[in-house]
Amino acid sequence: MPDKPFDRILVTSALPYANGPIHVGHLAGAYLPADLYCRYQRLKGRDLVNVCGSDEMGVAILMRAIAEDTTPQEIVDRYHPQIVESFERFGMSFDYYGRTTSAVHRETSQDFFRTLAGKGVFNLRTEKQLYDPEAEIFLADRFVRGTCPVCGYEDAYGDQCERCGSSLSPAELLNPRSALTNATPELRETTHWYLPLGDFQPRLETWIETHPEWKANVLGQIRSWFTDGLKDRAITRDVPWGVPVPPDVAEAAGVEAEGKVIYVWFDAPIGYISATREWAQQQGDPDRWKTYWQDDGTKLIHFIGKDNIVFHSLMFPAMLMAHGDYVVPENVPANEFLNIAGSKLSTSRNWAIWLHEYLEDFSPDLLRYALATMLPETKDADFSWHEFQQRVNSELADVLGNFVNRTMTFAHRFFDGQVPALENPSEADQEVLAQLAQFPATISTAYEAFRIREAVFETMNLARLGNKYFNDTEPWHTRKNDPQAAANTLHVCLQLCASLAVLMAPVLPFSAETLRRMLRLDGVRSSAPGEDAGEGKIGWDEAGQPLLAAGHALGEAAILFTKIEDEQIEAQMENLGAPAPQAEQAGTKPFEPLNDQIEYGDFAKLDLRVGRVTAAEQVPKADKLLRLEVDLGFEQRQILAGVAKQMTPEDLAGRKVVVVANLKPRTLFGLESQGMLLMAEDRDGRLAPLTTDGEEGAVIR
Ligand code: MF3
Ligand code: ZN
Repeated sequence: MPDKPFDRILVTSALPYANGPIHVGHLAGAYLPADLYCRYQRLKGRDLVNVCGSDEMGVAILMRAIAEDTTPQEIVDRYHPQIVESFERFGMSFDYYGRTTSAVHRETSQDFFRTLAGKGVFNLRTEKQLYDPEAEIFLADRFVRGTCPVCGYEDAYGDQCERCGSSLSPAELLNPRSALTNATPELRETTHWYLPLGDFQPRLETWIETHPEWKANVLGQIRSWFTDGLKDRAITRDVPWGVPVPPDVAEAAGVEAEGKVIYVWFDAPIGYISATREWAQQQGDPDRWKTYWQDDGTKLIHFIGKDNIVFHSLMFPAMLMAHGDYVVPENVPANEFLNIAGSKLSTSRNWAIWLHEYLEDFSPDLLRYALATMLPETKDADFSWHEFQQRVNSELADVLGNFVNRTMTFAHRFFDGQVPALENPSEADQEVLAQLAQFPATISTAYEAFRIREAVFETMNLARLGNKYFNDTEPWHTRKNDPQAAANTLHVCLQLCASLAVLMAPVLPFSAETLRRMLRLDGVRSSAPGEDAGEGKIGWDEAGQPLLAAGHALGEAAILFTKIEDEQIEAQMENLGAPAPQAEQAGTKPFEPLNDQIEYGDFAKLDLRVGRVTAAEQVPKADKLLRLEVDLGFEQRQILAGVAKQMTPEDLAGRKVVVVANLKPRTLFGLESQGMLLMAEDRDGRLAPLTTDGEEGAVIR
C-alpha cells in the first residue's frame, strides 16, 4: 500500500446542494465517515483542515426556484442556514463551512477558469443545443428529461441517468422533453467552453495506477470510465444562475459573455478551495490556504457518495493537473448508496429520514453510531428503524452503557468513588491491560484505510472486552473474600472506561465528553477543530495506556444511553413516506400522475362509510398521531390518523367524514386503529378531510 509521508491532511466532504435539508443518505455517503475520520486524525495530533459548504449554484437550485416561483437566491438563503444548523447539532466538525455564492468563491472559480483558458486548456465549440421555445431557455442538464440511450430508463436527466449512473449530455437523450414545460425542445446554436477530458486520460490513468489502495468500488467505476474513453465536457452553460464566465475571457474568445455561466460541476469542487481560503482569512492568516492546496506534503482526501466519483477522481483532478499549482487527491473514499427499509431513498416520496426531524426526537450520538455500523462502504446498505433501535439498545445501552455504568456504580459503592490501586495483578488483569494497549493501533489501521465500520466495531470491542472481564473476574464475589482482586478489577475497568472516553470520541463525541466528565478525565486532546494539537495532552496514541492514577477521584455516574421503546420506533416508521410536514409552496408543483387503471371490482372491494368524529385527541408521545372516536351508526370505532402535524383535534371533532370501514385493524403505540379517514392532499402537502352530509353508517359508492 503506497502511503506517502505527509505533513498535513486536507479533508473535504461533497458540498450538499442548498435546495433541501440533509437526510441520512447524505450522512452515510460523505459527512459521517468524513467526520469520524477527521476526529480520529485530530486525536492523533495531525495537522488537519476539514472543509465543506453549500453548493448553491447550478441547475438543481434554479429548478427548485422555478418550481416554487421564487428566486434561486431565496432558495439557498432558506436552506443554507438550515443545513448549517442541523450539521452543527449533529456534531459535524468542519473547520469551515462555506457557500458557493460567496464573493471569495466567485473570484476563486473565475480565476481558476481564467488560468486554464489562458493556458489554452479549453476548446470552444459552437453547436446546436436543445432549447425550450415556451420557457425561452436552453435546456441544460436537469432541465431536460428523456430516455437513457444506455439503459432505456425513460426519466433520465440531461446530465445523468439516475438508474444506470451513465453520465449524459442532453443531446444524447432519446425523446427529449423539457422538464420545465414538457415542450419538445428545438435545436438552437450556441457557443461553449469544453474541458477536453479525453486529452487528460493518459495522465489520469498513470496517476490512478499509483493508487491500487483505493476502494474497489471507486477503482471499478474509474476503470469503466477509462474503458469507455473520457469525453470532452462542456464547462459553461446558458442559464440565468451560476458563476459568470469571466467577461475578459469571453471577450478574448470573441464570445458574448452575457448569460453564460460556469458549469456547476466546474465551480463546485473549486468551492473546496474557496472554503479553505475563507478559513485562512478567518484564522487571520490569509495565505495559509496555499499550504494545504499547493504544498506537496498535503494529503487531500475527498469524501463523497458514489454518484460523485467521476467528478472527484477524474474531472477535478484533471482541472488541478491542468492548473499546475495544486496537489491532487490522495484518496477518494466514496461510499455506495443507503436504502431505507429496503427501498431506494426518495425525497419526492418523502422516503427519507431528515436529519433535522431526527434531532427533534433523539440525540445525535445514537444515529452517528448506528449509521456508522451500517455505512455502505463496499456495497449499497440498508437503514431501518428496527436496526437503529437494535444497535442503540443492544450495543450502546447493553454493552457500552452497561459496562460504564456497572464500573462507575461499583467504584462509588465500594471504593469511595476513587480509582483503587492495582496491586499484584492477576494474569487476567495483566492480559486485559495488554490487550487494551493494542486497541489504538488496531482501530487506527481501520480508520487510515477508510474502513469506518470496522473502526467502530473494533472500538466497541473494547467495551465488549470490559464486560467479559468484569463478568469473569466477578468483583461482587471477590469483594468479600479477596478485596484486592476486586480492587484490581475495578482499577482495570476504570482504565478501560477512560480509554473508551478517548477512542469513542470520533463516533460518539457527545457521549465521550459525558464519560470524560464522569471520570473527571482531564487533559484529553479535542477531536473538534480550533485547538492546537496540544503537546502533552492525552491523544489517540496514549489511549492504550492506563490514564487514571490510583486514588483519582471520580465524578458522578450518569446514564449514557437509555433504551429506545418500540413506540418511539413505530412513530418514526409512521413518518416514512408520509407527506412532509413542512409544506412546500403550492401551485407550481406538478399534479401527481394518475395511478394505473383498475377494474370496477377492485373499487367495489372498498367499504366506505359515513362516520361522525365524536372525540379527537393527540396520542401522547406520538407527535404525528391523532386518536379519533368515530360513530359509524351501527358501531363505534377507534381510528388513529397520522395527521397531527397538519391538523389539530379541533379540526376533526364533530365532523362527518369518509371512513374506509373494512381496512384490517393494526396497532400503533399499543392502540388499535380500526379504519382510516379519507383526506384530500394538496400539491403542497396540506390535508383536508373528506366530509359529507350523509347519515352515520351510510354506504358511499
Ligand atoms: N452538490 C453535489 C451533490 O450533491 C456535490 C458537489 S461536490 C463538489 O451531488 F465537489 F462539487 F463540491
Ligand atoms: Zn441509464
